[in-house]
Amino acid sequence: CGIVGYAGARPALGIVLDGLRRLEYRGYDSAGVAVVCDGDLLTEKKAGKLANLEKALAERSTADDDAVPGIGAGTTGIGHTRWATHGGPTDRNAHPHRARDGRVAVIHNGIIENFAKLRAELEAEGVEFTSDTDTECAAHLLAGELSRLRAAGEPDGPTLLATAMRQVCQRLEGAFTLLAVDAAIPGAVVGARRNSPLVVGRGVGENYLASDVSAFIEHTRDAVELGQDQVVLITGEAIEVTDFTGAPATGKDFHIDWDASAAEKGGYDYFMLKEIAEQPQAIADTLLGRLKENGEIVLDEVRLSDQDLRDADKIFIVACGTSYHAGMVAKYAIEHWTRIPCEVELASEFRYRDPVLDRSTLVVAISQSGETMDTLMALRHAKEQKARVLAICNTNGSTIPRESDAVLYTHGGPEVAVASTKAFLTQVVACYLIGLHLAQVRGIKYADEVAAVVDQLQEMPDKLRELLAGIEPVRELARELKAAPTVLFIGRHVGFPVALEGALKLKELAYMHAEGFAAGELKHGPISLIDQGTPVVCIVPSPAGRGMLHDKIVSNIQEIRARGARTIVIAEQGDEAVTPYADHLIYVPRTPTLLAPLVTTVPLQVLACEIAAARGHDVDQPRNLAKSVTVE
Ligand code: G6P
Repeated sequence: CGIVGYAGARPALGIVLDGLRRLEYRGYDSAGVAVVCDGDLLTEKKAGKLANLEKALAERSTADDDAVPGIGAGTTGIGHTRWATHGGPTDRNAHPHRARDGRVAVIHNGIIENFAKLRAELEAEGVEFTSDTDTECAAHLLAGELSRLRAAGEPDGPTLLATAMRQVCQRLEGAFTLLAVDAAIPGAVVGARRNSPLVVGRGVGENYLASDVSAFIEHTRDAVELGQDQVVLITGEAIEVTDFTGAPATGKDFHIDWDASAAEKGGYDYFMLKEIAEQPQAIADTLLGRLKENGEIVLDEVRLSDQDLRDADKIFIVACGTSYHAGMVAKYAIEHWTRIPCEVELASEFRYRDPVLDRSTLVVAISQSGETMDTLMALRHAKEQKARVLAICNTNGSTIPRESDAVLYTHGGPEVAVASTKAFLTQVVACYLIGLHLAQVRGIKYADEVAAVVDQLQEMPDKLRELLAGIEPVRELARELKAAPTVLFIGRHVGFPVALEGALKLKELAYMHAEGFAAGELKHGPISLIDQGTPVVCIVPSPAGRGMLHDKIVSNIQEIRARGARTIVIAEQGDEAVTPYADHLIYVPRTPTLLAPLVTTVPLQVLACEIAAARGHDVDQPRNLAKSVTVE
C-alpha cells in the first residue's frame, strides 16, 4: 500500500492526491483521503484506481457546495492507495478508516497479525465494525486511547495524538505503518512504523510523511529516514521522533539526489516503455565509478572486509519475482568466476526450510524496492544464524539495505511500472560486479577472464542502445501473438532464467498462460504441450565460447518445430545456424554467454509490453499486482 500525510499551511487535498498518484505503483485496489478542516474530519474513499477517488471528489464538488470547500481547504491530510490483504477491494474496505466517534481517521500499510483478538475485544465492548479490515481495529483503539487520556486530564494537542499512538502500537503485532489524524487536533499527523516503510519529508513551514520519497519529491528533497518501532509526529513547524515507549529518537537525515522528472513518463505511452528505453543509461550508472582503469573493481559501499569475503565458503542468493531471476543469472557467473558454491532461493521459502548457514555463509538479498517482506524475513533469518548479508538494492535508505551488513546500490533510478525492467538489468550488473570482486579478492584462476569481462561490461550500454534502436520487429510480432492461448519460453544455462523472466513478464502484463523451461527438460514432459502453431520463444546462446550449448539448443528447436511449434528465435547477430529453424528471428548484439541476459531479456520485455497493450491492458498497473509487496 502507499501512504501520504501532510501538515502545513497549504490545502492538503491536492498535495495528498499528487503523492498518491506517485505511490499508486504500491497498490491500486482502492484509494482514499481524510482531511481535517475547521474541527471536522472529511473523508472520501473509493474502490479501484485513484481516478475513481478523483471522480468521486469532483462529483462531491458539484453535489455538495459546502463540503467541498471544506475538504479542499483543510491543511492537514492523509491519503492511502491500497493493495488488499484483509477484506476485498471494496469502497467499504478502502482506507481511511474512521473510529466510532467519526473524529479519528487511520490509514495503514502491512498486516496487524493479532487483529482477530483485538476485534473480538472491541466488539465485546460494543464497538460496531464497518469494514472487514485489520486496520479498523487501530482506528477504534486510537480513538479509545485519546478519550482515555483526555478523561485523565492530559492536555489536548499534537503531543496527545503521539502519546495515544504509542499506546496503540504497543498492542499491535505484525508489520505496520500507520498514519492518523484527529479532527480535534488540527495541524498534526502522527505516524508509526514497524517493519513497513515510512519516510519524512522536511519542508519549510510544512512536513510530509510517505511510504517513499517519490510522494513528496516535487516539494522537498530533504528527507528523514525512520528506524523500526518509531512514532513520528509532524506539524507544519516540527518533526518529533520517539520510540514506542516515548523515549526521544532521531531519524537519519538524507538528501534525495534524483528529481521529480525522473518519475514522469517523458513522452512515452507507458512508464514501462520509458524504463525499457532507460536501460542503457541505468547500466552505465550502475557501473559508474566502480571499475578502475586497471580492471580492479571498487565496491566502496560494501562494508565487508576482504577477509570476510575470503572466508565465505558458500553463497545463498535470496529474492522474489524478477529479482529472483536476476539471482539465477548471478549463480552461473559467481560460481564460474569464484568457484564458491552458490544457491539461489525464493525468499518466501528460504527461512521455512531451516537452511544451513553460519558465519562463513554470504547471503545476497536482491530487492529493487528494499521493502519486500519475504526478502526482509529471509535476511533476518540469515542474520540470526550469523551469516553475513549483502544487499543489492535500488532504493536508498530502504529497510533491506539498512538491515544488511553491506549494500551495493543499483543506480537504476526510480522504477514506476509494476513490471520490473531496468531494475532487473541493473541487478544483474550488480551481481556481476560482486562476482568479479569476489574473484579478484580471492585471486582465483580466472583472473585473466575477469579483466576481460570488465571491458565487456563497459560495452554493454552501447550494445543495448543498438538493440533498442532495432526493436520494431518485436512490436510487429507482438501484434501477431496477441491472441495466442499460450506462449512457451526455452533456454539453457543463463538463457534458462531469461526464459523464466520472459514468461513471467507475459503472465504479469498480458494475463496469458506462459511458461519458461530449461530447454533440456522439454523432452521430460513439457514437450507434450506443443501443438500446431504453439509459439515457443527460444533463447539461443552465442556459438562462440560455449559452442556445445549453442548446438544443443539448436537441436531442441528442431525437435519442437518437428512437432508443430512456431519458433521465435532470439540469437546473436550473425548466427546463421538457427535461420532454417526460425519462424521469426530476432538478432541481439554479440555478447559473451555469461553477460547475454543483458541483451536477450530486452526483446522479451518489449514483447510482453506490446502484447499487453494490444490486448488493451493497463501496462503499468496490471491487475492484482503491486510493485512493492510489504506483506508475507
Ligand atoms: C513484486 C513485483 C515484482 C518484483 C517483486 C520483488 O512482486 O510485482 O515485479 O520482482 O515484487 O520486488 P523487489 O522490490 O524485492 O525486487
